[in-house]
Amino acid sequence: MHGSESTVLEQATRRRTFAVISHPDAGKSTLTEALALHAHVIGEAGAVHGKSGRRGVASDWMAMEQERGISVTSAVMQFAYGDVVMNLLDTPGHADFSEDTYRVLSAVDCAVMLLDAAKGLEPQTLKLFEVCRHRRVPIITFINKWDRPGLDALELLDEIEQRLAIRTTPVTWPVGVAGDLQGLIDRRDPAQVIRFTRSTGGRAATESRISADADAARELSGLDAAEDELRLLDAVGADFDRETFLEGTSTPVFFGSAVSNIGVRLLLDAIVSIAPSPTPRLTLEGARRPVQAPFSGLVFKVQANMNPAHRDRIAFVRVCSGVFERGMVLNHAATGRPFTTKFANAMFGQNRTVVEQAYPGDIVGLVNAGALRPGDTLHEGEPVQFPAMPTFAPEHFVTVRTKDPSRSKQFRRGVTQLESEGVVQVLTSDFRGGHAPVLAAVGPMQFEVVLHRLEHEFGAPAVLEPLPYKLARRTDQASKDRLNRMRGVEVLTRTRDGILLALFTDRWSMDRAGADAPELTIEPLNITAE
Ligand code: G4P
Repeated sequence: MHGSESTVLEQATRRRTFAVISHPDAGKSTLTEALALHAHVIGEAGAVHGKSGRRGVASDWMAMEQERGISVTSAVMQFAYGDVVMNLLDTPGHADFSEDTYRVLSAVDCAVMLLDAAKGLEPQTLKLFEVCRHRRVPIITFINKWDRPGLDALELLDEIEQRLAIRTTPVTWPVGVAGDLQGLIDRRDPAQVIRFTRSTGGRAATESRISADADAARELSGLDAAEDELRLLDAVGADFDRETFLEGTSTPVFFGSAVSNIGVRLLLDAIVSIAPSPTPRLTLEGARRPVQAPFSGLVFKVQANMNPAHRDRIAFVRVCSGVFERGMVLNHAATGRPFTTKFANAMFGQNRTVVEQAYPGDIVGLVNAGALRPGDTLHEGEPVQFPAMPTFAPEHFVTVRTKDPSRSKQFRRGVTQLESEGVVQVLTSDFRGGHAPVLAAVGPMQFEVVLHRLEHEFGAPAVLEPLPYKLARRTDQASKDRLNRMRGVEVLTRTRDGILLALFTDRWSMDRAGADAPELTIEPLNITAE
């Protein structure tokens, strides 16, 4: 191994690239802030994320963002913790939940599943968990808001095990029920109790360790119960197991309160000590590309129209191997064409500061990246390609038509372009004709993006009409006609991959179709490719 390869390997070993998966309001923003509090924030890569006057270059996107109070631009925060470089990728939620939210998970090596102690598993967490499971992304669980009344700790573990079919291995354990948090016990060192004291006026607590035998510990009313529970956990062998954690079949669990900074450092330490650093990534050929191989990167998200004057696109690229150096000319595997990063402002940092170098696990934002699509590979040297980005089961459906028939050419071009960029899925059928295609999305915000871009970028103002469908399943040619004759069902072809999708107005009509005609193909469509 020559010098630069060992540098890349060493740098990769220092990286932890992860995302927080949670339902809105579980405390993701609070946890992110609390993590950053412990660390030294190096930069924040956001499309137009500037804090200091950068809003001057704000595009229509920013207007949309401000209007709706949602973050469409934040992408990744990089921070150093000790010797480790953390890349925390944002998974947009709320109204901006979209295919991008899922795609981000193709770029991480680990995920923190954040739960609200009072609510347990919630729908959005479940969806994101499924994507992680499909990719075998290791999951660390953080049960948040233990400072407030909530469910019983053992019950929460049981819920996770039952509903996710994953083994739970608590690493920390709360002393005191939810709402009466008296301390934490680190199961690796159960002879001590970690206590938290809040500074006067401050929300954040500082921690200290006392012996579990000390009088001060024995006075804690929750300690006996906690010790009983720990004995129970020991008896069932719920100990951290690295192998099953890395393959995604067990999850270490931490308890705490992000808002009070309780348990956050223990989580951060765990990310350093147990979360994997970038590993060789699987290529389309089935080989694994070593991290010290020449540069390769995966485009996992493309955001358009940051600056209406330039119509630029920004592609977020996860470095998979080698070192990224600004100015290098890469190969774009999908087209075989060179892609120059010379003028593409590699941006990283609060004010789009230019990044000169990035290592495996890091995220680089490339502007002027109109040719790049989510799932594309960029590389140096010998050809390499990573598997295509999966497509996800849409849950929102509309028809779209141009307001002005004289703009129908622009309209069609716009729809085709937006589909090829992965902004929405486009569905067609013989019955509907081509003038008003059906758009399908994971989140409704994707439709707004389509309308906005059709009007401002393609000069084809359009209108949407909602369709009553809520669910999509994969079907086949043999089942198509039968399904089309049923009430509350319609079969369409997804233009991206030619897959036939049966859309159902509700679960009831889907179950009934399956029960009435069990020979029909109605298959789940969570993730259709990898
Ligand atoms: P999100 O990004 O996942 O949507 O959640 P966010 O961090 O915005 O947190 C949602 C609410 O939950 C916030 O309250 C936040 O303060 C609260 N929260 C987060 N972590 C904890 C915790 O550990 N304990 C308790 N008790 N609350 C927590 P809010 O009322 O919406 O906002 P704020 O006025 O408190 O900022």
